[in-house]
Amino acid sequence: MSLEKFPRYGQEKRLLHGGDYNPDQWLKYPQVLADDLELMKDARANAFSVGIFAWSALEPEEGRFEFDWLDKIVDDIAGIGAKAIIATPSGARPAWLSKKYPEVLRVNARRERQLHGGRHNHCQSSPAYREKVGIINRKLAQRYGSHPALLMWHVSNEYSGHCHCPLCQENFRAWLEKKYKTIDVLNDAYWSAFWSHTYGDFSQVESPSPIGESMVHALNLDWNRFVTDITIDFYRHEAAPLREISPDVPITTNFMGELSQPWQSHPFAGLDYAKFAHEVDVVSWDSYPPWHNDYETTENLASRLAFVNDYFRALKNAPFLILESTPSAVNWHPVNKAKRPGMHMLSAVACLAHGADAIMYFQWRKSRGSSEKFHGAVVDHDGSRENRVFKDVKAVGEMLERVSEIKGSLTPARVALVYDVENFWALSDAQGFDNGDKKYPQTAHAHYKAFWDANVPVDVIPADRDLSRYDLVVAPMPYMTSDARIEALKAYVAGGGILVATYFLGIVDENDLVHPGGFPAGLREVFGINVLETDTLYPKDKNRIAFGGGSYDAFDYCALVELRGARAIGEYANDFYAGSPAATAHDYGKGRAYFIGARTGGDFLRGFYGEILRGMKLPELPVQVPAGVSAQVRESESHRYCFVMNYREEEGGFALKQEARDLISGRTFPRGEHRLIPYGVRIFKTEKTIEA
Ligand code: GAL
Repeated sequence: MSLEKFPRYGQEKRLLHGGDYNPDQWLKYPQVLADDLELMKDARANAFSVGIFAWSALEPEEGRFEFDWLDKIVDDIAGIGAKAIIATPSGARPAWLSKKYPEVLRVNARRERQLHGGRHNHCQSSPAYREKVGIINRKLAQRYGSHPALLMWHVSNEYSGHCHCPLCQENFRAWLEKKYKTIDVLNDAYWSAFWSHTYGDFSQVESPSPIGESMVHALNLDWNRFVTDITIDFYRHEAAPLREISPDVPITTNFMGELSQPWQSHPFAGLDYAKFAHEVDVVSWDSYPPWHNDYETTENLASRLAFVNDYFRALKNAPFLILESTPSAVNWHPVNKAKRPGMHMLSAVACLAHGADAIMYFQWRKSRGSSEKFHGAVVDHDGSRENRVFKDVKAVGEMLERVSEIKGSLTPARVALVYDVENFWALSDAQGFDNGDKKYPQTAHAHYKAFWDANVPVDVIPADRDLSRYDLVVAPMPYMTSDARIEALKAYVAGGGILVATYFLGIVDENDLVHPGGFPAGLREVFGINVLETDTLYPKDKNRIAFGGGSYDAFDYCALVELRGARAIGEYANDFYAGSPAATAHDYGKGRAYFIGARTGGDFLRGFYGEILRGMKLPELPVQVPAGVSAQVRESESHRYCFVMNYREEEGGFALKQEARDLISGRTFPRGEHRLIPYGVRIFKTEKTIEA
């Protein structure tokens, strides 16, 4: 981000610490608001997102605005030396608005208009909603745009979902017409002769629906793309008055990550954040990992969290903000377990290590009523600063003050892993292979984990990003690979890049149409193979792969390939394809392309990538860590920061290769072996080059 454009933001040298503050729930309790200020200072909190759901308090009746209460809050925040991240209130609307303008209510895919209530459920097309949002956003910008406490605008909250009302249908059709120009072009892209689904003109197209069309895959894809575009359009409409009146104040909107289920380790899939990221000045996301769950190790969950952090960081190649996280438990996981001692600090450092410049919470104070009254907060119902959670938060606040020099430092990733939401959409639609679950996010994470285990920094990137800055690019299950992407992959390898792709490579194009003629010619050229077929195995089936002197399980999918210039580096051991290539390598131009034909366990992936990494000569870390202890780096112009995190429930250790100072404790540690308590953390500062 260019800090010149946003001088006030650039002058803020602290790592942000604070969170969602909802004083609008407490306006009848002045003592509570006064107590908050004292507690905020004590917790070393320095930034608060305010007004997120405050529309009813700001405009209790149409056209009657009440800003006095927010004036006081923002002044008070300034008074304690903290910053305000002021939100636009479109995430939830007042009842008068729904009542007078029912068009603002969303229509679901079954074409049922929803009643007033809940949140995050407005129609993105509605002119009435846009008008009302435009008015209040302008007033907020006029009133607070030059307030010294204003650090950033927080536009809406967690945009998501779709509306299928007549207005949205019209917008969708106009979007299609702009894209395809003629209905014939659309019919070709949609392969619509199938089941007689040919459209006569654009007016016949309807958004996908469980009671209507849902099998035309290119329509589904376009709908998802349209939903991203109309959400961005709505966001732009919201941002316009803010940009006009306060061009020097950066804008963010909080993105979401999915971590609450064992199989999830990916950004929210309802929007294409790769596109959305171009619109915001700072990327931020809301992080809610289910720590201490009963189905995985802490370290595995940490690697799932790291994957999502690495995605949000790589969207702009810049530090991002954790805009929401919980200081203790949430209220919406299947089981809401409290963070064990040490976990709050560890989970904060886990995000800093992957590029976060803020640790913010939902929520500052627990509400007394409604659905989030048991959601973790910095201030519990007891209002006390003596409870465990408050003390843990304060300790994180103090830590952030001590390590603030890491702010703005970057992650020096030379490895990229492609995770693409359009590919996820297409794979989720594909009928065939294993219809239970194609396991795209799980597979992406499994490949990522091999690098995590080796403490190698990775950028998790969307498919359209520039690859030339990376030495190694990994593309798990790249099912949707357009001709343009094939050219980009060719150019990358020809220029000296190392590319690894797996089964499901290059099956369909950007319209979800299978590439004619089988495995695309461009990919044959780069990989030196032809993919003949893909075998899908039952869950109990196994094959084996002989690779590098070892033997590894292959399951779920086995691609059968013939060599066309590549060499086999792994072979199947069983079944009718025993002895045929399961993994291949091919030198192409100045680079090399590898193909992994089967789904495998982590043991194979560690061995496979270990071999490649050995040839890459990555910069050495200043520490050596055992399994379960993770090391990650960020770099400023002059220094390297090495984060060491013990994700084990028992003591861990690390070996320092040189003397180094830990910014958290302020202690200098000599070269040699050291212990780490369970969940213990260190942030070592070293010069950029380490002594041999
Ligand atoms: C987020 C949301 C917050 C709060 C939080 C609870 O998704 O933005 O307003 O509801 O979840 O974890």
